[in-house]
Amino acid sequence: MRMGYGRVVCLSAAMVLVMQFACGSVEADSANGRRIAERWCAECHVVAPGQRHASDAVPTFAQISGSGRFDEATLSAFLANPHHSRMPNLSLTRSEIADLVAYIRRQTH
Ligand code: HEC
Repeated sequence: MRMGYGRVVCLSAAMVLVMQFACGSVEADSANGRRIAERWCAECHVVAPGQRHASDAVPTFAQISGSGRFDEATLSAFLANPHHSRMPNLSLTRSEIADLVAYIRRQTH
């Protein structure tokens, strides 16, 4: 019996979905990082190009990413426990931190 073309397309689409679902839990999601940033960080930081309002004297995400002072590990550690006096501890989960780190590190690229 021949499989119809439509059926093959449908099966491959289902496979892609399953693969994305399976990988989603491990891989950081920078799009979600952006949503978290806009919600929790944009009050003080410029989190994306074009944002007009933020606090003075707070580094933008592009500056943080471009400064070379943070790699993935140090940025995650900072966000898990910000010991800066002026930076609030936002009690982020590990997956929120991973998504934010992925997002921040993409800012200069
Ligand atoms: C209430 C204001 C405020 C909010 C909200 C805030 N920050 Fe900050 N953040 C600051 C300030 C102020 C500093 C600079 C602290 C200093 O230099 O003393 C800072 C510093 C940082 C730094 C370190 C920069 C460096 O070069 O040392 C990172 C990384 C950072 N913030 C990430 C975030 C992320 C991610 C969020 C959202 C989850 C966030 N911040 C939310 C105020 C805020």
